[in-house]
Amino acid sequence: MRRQKRTGRKAPGSMRGYAQRERNGFALVKKTILWRTDDAAPDPTMGDSMNCIQRTLAAEEITTEAAAILRAGGLVAFPTETVYGLGASVFNASALASVFAVKGRPADNPLIAHVADMGQLELLAERVSPLCRALMDAFWPGPLSVLLPVRAGLPQELTAGLATVAVRMPRHPLALRLIRETGAPLAAPSANRSGRPSPTTAAHVLEDLGGAIDGVIDGGPCKIGIESTVIEVVGDAIVILRPGQIDVSALSAFGVPVRYDAHAVQVSADTAAPGGAAPRSPGQKYRHYAPRADLQVLMGRNGAFADFVQGALGKARAEGKRVAVLSRRDQALPQADFSYVLGEDDEMAARLYDALRACDSAGVDVIYLQGPQDEERSAALVNRLYKAAAGKILRI
Ligand code: TXA
Ligand code: MG
Repeated sequence: MRRQKRTGRKAPGSMRGYAQRERNGFALVKKTILWRTDDAAPDPTMGDSMNCIQRTLAAEEITTEAAAILRAGGLVAFPTETVYGLGASVFNASALASVFAVKGRPADNPLIAHVADMGQLELLAERVSPLCRALMDAFWPGPLSVLLPVRAGLPQELTAGLATVAVRMPRHPLALRLIRETGAPLAAPSANRSGRPSPTTAAHVLEDLGGAIDGVIDGGPCKIGIESTVIEVVGDAIVILRPGQIDVSALSAFGVPVRYDAHAVQVSADTAAPGGAAPRSPGQKYRHYAPRADLQVLMGRNGAFADFVQGALGKARAEGKRVAVLSRRDQALPQADFSYVLGEDDEMAARLYDALRACDSAGVDVIYLQGPQDEERSAALVNRLYKAAAGKILRI
């Protein structure tokens, strides 16, 4: 490996050197650039402890710098309307390999390619059926990832060797501008360490990946807060592999059957863990979105939740455990070591991952979380809770 100069000045032609490097014992630790738009106030909490340096620029300057890094094979995290993605050019096999390495992602879990226009779709998909095109017309840009037959010649790392590629067009202006300026679709899994809750702020990205990636663009908190719906058209049916904001009722408007993949999706507290054949979407088989503490999800009315917490808190305390209580709304509850109000439905989705990360920061051992009121409307949320709690959902 070429030796880095101590000054951290970049070698000519190397955009990877853009991130300042410094000595840390024998290791060279990279500083991740945190780009913030010039209408945002400086954030004193984001600095050395996060292994980042802040750069405040106009939005156009940010995407120009970040796109140059991506074209040179670097990794840049960016905001989308769902969660922050860790971007790499779909055409750069070694950049894609780095995405797996920094996330600690299993090699058989394929990435989602993000496009900014329909022209870029042609670079990825062998063909697009009329139904898929109609879905894209209806929902793009937006939180829908569509599986399509992959074009020959793309790096194996993108699809983990599968015959299909997942594609979506995100709805965040900074994401669209970044992809356009890079001049290539961007592979972007959620920008967290594998298994951790997905990031919904730039600070979350730095918590997991500060010092390991070239940069992160701060676009504020993500509006939706949980990942896109992943679908595949099989025969004349739409099959949901991962539920998201675009749900069964929205997809049913297309006059074809809509169903969940049997192995994919736990969308109710009563769903038994699936067994049998291999899952169609490799991401389904891994533990996901999980805080370090023991998470227990309680489905029930406010009064029942308060009663449950009262009893459980006493028991946990007797065992010397620190407890977090995450409730749907501000209500009279026994004092826990950490409390967080999630809100209802969409609000709960937007705050869930932040809440789980906050529990980790508070160093609690047990989390009691009050699940959503309307399970059917909140299928995506219940699915994430099911995975984060490793199935520990209780009706009270
Ligand atoms: O909202 C989102 O989709 C975010 C933002 C950044 O766009 N991205 C995201 O990516 O959630 P990731 O990698 O965390 O999740 C991708 C999911 C995984 O469950 C993966 O297994 C599935 O999509 N997937 C990707 N390509 C697939 C394929 N060819 N066949 C089946 N499943 C696929
Ligand atoms: Mg993910």
